Amino acid sequence: MSSITLRTVAARHSVRNFDSSTPDLHAIGTRLTFTTHIMPLRPEAIEGRVGTYGVITGRPAYAAVCCRPAEMCAAGIEGEHLVLQLTALGYGTCWLGGTFSRGKAAAALPRPLADDEKIVAVIAIGHPADHVSFMGRLMKKMVNSSSRKSLTDIIVAGRMPDYLADAMEAARLAPSARNSQPWRYAFNPDGTIDVYCVNAGHFSVLDTGISIANFLAVAPHYKVTPCHNTEDTTLTPVATLSPA
Ligand SMILES: Cc1cc2nc3c(=O)[nH]c(=O)nc-3n(C[C@H](O)[C@H](O)[C@H](O)COP(=O)(O)O)c2cc1C
Repeated sequence: MSSITLRTVAARHSVRNFDSSTPDLHAIGTRLTFTTHIMPLRPEAIEGRVGTYGVITGRPAYAAVCCRPAEMCAAGIEGEHLVLQLTALGYGTCWLGGTFSRGKAAAALPRPLADDEKIVAVIAIGHPADHVSFMGRLMKKMVNSSSRKSLTDIIVAGRMPDYLADAMEAARLAPSARNSQPWRYAFNPDGTIDVYCVNAGHFSVLDTGISIANFLAVAPHYKVTPCHNTEDTTLTPVATLSPA
């Protein structure tokens, strides 16, 4: 992730209006990381639109984010890693957790899902159109998409060291379903960081993985391990970040 900077992170925003040229994800695939949780949908198998309610216009390609319930954080990290790589290459993206057809996405998967595996979201990927539609403007307004919580809101314990200011800014700017920003960070005296989420919604752990991906984009020497610190029972532990 070393080519991704805070500038890339800050430049990313959800693009819902694409032009009519569908990018070939496999053609740009050598510069992208597709993992077990992220599967490009087969364009020839997409009948009609995967995005629903007219939210997505134009002809983007789609990647499905698929995982088992215990893998939501990893799926968020991997999906957002892809989003940031695509942003650095000049593509527009939009995570879709609600406004997409699971049936059409499932029919276009490159392999069948395992029994306990689900499509939790898809990512629309394409060339941004010149104009933002009325629906595109409405979606941004409805979730106040340019606003973010302050660091004071998301750091719930300890003191952030100055050298992590850019990484935490990246974590803060991450996209989330309905822009709810459920992630919370606690700095431990030993240099590790416990990451929690407010257990407010279906997408909380996925969103928190997305925020962690943004952190790792700017601080790639941190590694992710399961979070065992359950002292604060009002928050759900998601992961611990440790300097390598
Ligand atoms: C997991 C996830 C699911 C999302 N689902 C939808 C969706 O179903 N429809 C939509 O229009 N936007 C969706 N979004 C986009 C968010 O509304 C958007 O990221 C947020 O408002 C912040 O705006 P920004 O991405 O432009 O910074 C989703 C984002 C995430 C991370």
